[in-house]
Order: sequence, then C-alpha cells, then structure tokens
Amino acid sequence: MSYVHGYSVREGRRLGDQADTLADLLHAGIAYPAGSRVLEVGCGVGAQTVHLLARSPGVRLVAVDVSAASLAAARATVTAAYPGEDVTFCRADLHRLPYPDGAFDHVFACFVLEHLPDPRSALAALRRVLRPGGTLTVVEGDHGSAFFHPDSAYARAAIDCQVRLQAAAGGDARIGRRLHPLLTAAGYAEVDVTPRAVYVDADRPGLVDGFTRNTFIAMVAAVGADALAAGLTTPDDWRRGIAHLHRTTWADGTFHYTFFTARAVRP
Ligand SMILES: C[S@@+](CC[C@H](N)C(=O)[O-])C[C@H]1O[C@@H](n2cnc3c(N)ncnc32)[C@H](O)[C@@H]1O
Repeated sequence: MSYVHGYSVREGRRLGDQADTLADLLHAGIAYPAGSRVLEVGCGVGAQTVHLLARSPGVRLVAVDVSAASLAAARATVTAAYPGEDVTFCRADLHRLPYPDGAFDHVFACFVLEHLPDPRSALAALRRVLRPGGTLTVVEGDHGSAFFHPDSAYARAAIDCQVRLQAAAGGDARIGRRLHPLLTAAGYAEVDVTPRAVYVDADRPGLVDGFTRNTFIAMVAAVGADALAAGLTTPDDWRRGIAHLHRTTWADGTFHYTFFTARAVRP
C-alpha cells in the first residue's frame, strides 16, 4: 500500500504526540458504554486506542490495521497502559473485515479515510459490520484549514506538496470538508459533523510544541525527500517553506487548523 506518512519510528512518535496533544479536543463526547462491542479501524501504533479506553473503560475493543508492525507496537502500548481491558488486535483490511454483519455496536476511525482512494466504499464496508442503530465516529483533518501568521507563500507551497503527494497516493488531505456528503452517500443516518479548531499562539506553549511543531510541521517536513524527488519543489524553496512554518512558532506567531469529527448512525 502506498501510504504518504510511512511507518517509521519517527512517524509512530509523531502519531503519539498528535493523539496526546489533541485528545481532549478530538475525543470530547466519545464514550461507549461498558460491555459494548467497539471496532477501531486503522489503529496504527495505538495512539488513539489508549484515549478511547481512557474514556470508555470496560468495552470489548477490537483494533484493526493492515500493518503488522504498527499492530505489534499498538499491542505493546495498549496492554502496558490498560492490562485489564478486553482488547483484541487483528491484522485486516477495513474493506474486507473478517466479522459478520452487525458484529459491532460502535466503529471508530481516526485519520484513516484521508488515505483511502474510495472512502465511500470504505464507509459502506464499515456500515456492514455495525448493528442497526450502531454508531460510526470518524475524525479527519483538512489541510485547507491551515492558516498562520506570519503568512508565507513558501510555507503554503510546502503544505501543498504534502496535499499533492497524498493525492498521488490516492488520498485526500482535505477530506474534512467532505465528511457529511461522504457519510450520507454511504447510507448513514443522523450524520452530525463538528469542526474542532486548534488555535495556537505564544500563550499556549503546549500547543506550540505538541501541535504546531511536533504534529503539523513534523508531518509536512517528513515528505521533503518525496516532494523533491517528484519535482514538486526545489531545495531552496523547500528549506524556506519549512523555515517559514517554524517562524509561526515564534513569540509573535500564530497557527490555526481545523479537524472534523463526524458521528453517524447505521439505519
Ligand atoms: C495516519 S495513520 C492513523 C493511525 C491512528 N488512527 C492514529 O490516529 O494515530 C493511518 C493508519 O491507517 C492504516 N490503514 C490504511 N489503510 C487501511 C486499510 N485499508 N485497512 C486497515 N488499516 C488501514 C494505516 O496502516 C495506518 O496505520
């Protein structure tokens, strides 16, 4: 599978920083009753799984990913943090899940749809394993929502390199704005999308580090070699773009990004 972020140790650490920094924002309102059957697809290294369990103790959780290495890391992290919880890890493609129709009460997917060439068919595959009345929650970003001070055409061009590489790999880094129509077209009911904005300035030092530097700039910077190889930028422009993104973390800089959380029901 072509996957724009890759599976390096550094990317695993970035996913952890991202999940920990944004947990209160992205997991607000997501709590499943003890005993309910919950499926997390695209669990990666378990960065969101630990936050799911923190808010929903006692669920019967199945965590699925296509990457065996990520699943091994997820198993180590999650069982160390929550040894008493009922969690099963399974290597599978979310389009072909090895579970019967209606097997789960709730499905959760964070930062997964953005990497799939046909998110609508993925959503339909997830609907199959939900019981009628069960809920799907998806969390996605939208790189079109990134704006910052000081503004910089070089910084915007660097972000655009990531958007274009992700598109070339079949994904959509601006999928947040499409969640409502996608879920509706995939046959879900009661679709409810909430934008969740991250705003960073010097009075929020935890977000300057945890979000602007370690989540967002780290994600863009990681595609530099691929962007150069694809001829999307030059070494000078790339260096300026990343430097100008870092410039937004100075005392007089600001940064804004919006995530979208969608909740929908299987009719
Ligand atoms: C950006 S990571 C997000 C991981 C985790 N949800 C998080 O927020 O930290 C996307 C994950 O989706 C997984 N993935 C991509 N396509 C998949 C598929 N068809 N079936 C299952 N997992 C998939 C990737 O292997 C990767 O671990």
